[in-house]
Amino acid sequence: MSHASIAERPPAASLRGVAVDRSGRTILTVPTWDVRRGQRWVVLGANGCGKTTLLRLLSLYEHPSRGSIEVLGETLGRTDVRMLRRRIGFVSSAFASLLREDLAAEDVVVCALNAALEPWWHRYSDAERERARAILAAVGLGGRSHERLATLSSGERARVHLARALMCDPELLLLDEPTSGLDLVGRETLLADLDALDPGLTTVLVTHHLEEIPASFDHALLLDHGRVVAAGPIGSTLHSRPCHALSGSMSW
Ligand SMILES: Nc1ncnc2c1ncn2[C@@H]1O[C@H](COP(=O)(O)OP(=O)(O)OP(=O)(O)O)[C@@H](O)[C@H]1O
Ligand SMILES: [Mg+2]
Repeated sequence: MSHASIAERPPAASLRGVAVDRSGRTILTVPTWDVRRGQRWVVLGANGCGKTTLLRLLSLYEHPSRGSIEVLGETLGRTDVRMLRRRIGFVSSAFASLLREDLAAEDVVVCALNAALEPWWHRYSDAERERARAILAAVGLGGRSHERLATLSSGERARVHLARALMCDPELLLLDEPTSGLDLVGRETLLADLDALDPGLTTVLVTHHLEEIPASFDHALLLDHGRVVAAGPIGSTLHSRPCHALSGSMSW
């Protein structure tokens, strides 16, 4: 699919005049940003510049103080966010810490169908469990579905979280530093998983590591102290970045 045809598609997410105030200060402003269906965006910026806040807006867990947000054709404030959230896959370390360590990988993945943290609250069919195992296999955990989170390595757990995000067949996938805490091999393995995902899946990835942006990512948004300093096709955006934002390093 050509970039031109993707650019003509309706946006998966659209922000207009958005600002987020917290504790008496504005921590994020986004005048205008469109994530078109099928695009893969990477969000870059230093610690505290507003990356997680931006993803929490897109995942509908946070409301802006000003401005409007449309996600998957629905306007925030005029829709049932619980229904809309089921169409969004979200991987974040804050969420990962809510999961009990003695849950089996398969349970963590299957209970995403009800946005639940425990499998006991709902019944899951054999077909749903089979699908959970198939997704685990697709991210390199074939035959490991009954292992507990506690006995999996950090990299394997990260892949369980990715599998959970994919369980609802999301239309929008949001990844907040999915490789944080992983060693080089763990990061490379997870990134290979990301690259192998459905290329049509609209994705927004937050990372600190320029060197680990998967090849399939085509757009970048750069944040600096809560402001968008550049956004657009990845090649031109990374070249246009303000020099001070990189500080001469490969990582932010
Ligand atoms: N609820 C809140 N109340 C006050 N300040 C907040 C709140 N949430 C976030 N902030 C502040 O907003 C800024 C942006 O936070 P955010 O977590 O979005 O940054 P980030 O870019 O994800 O940083 P990191 O790279 O460290 O994860 C930070 O200075 C943070 O302290
Ligand atoms: Mg963050």
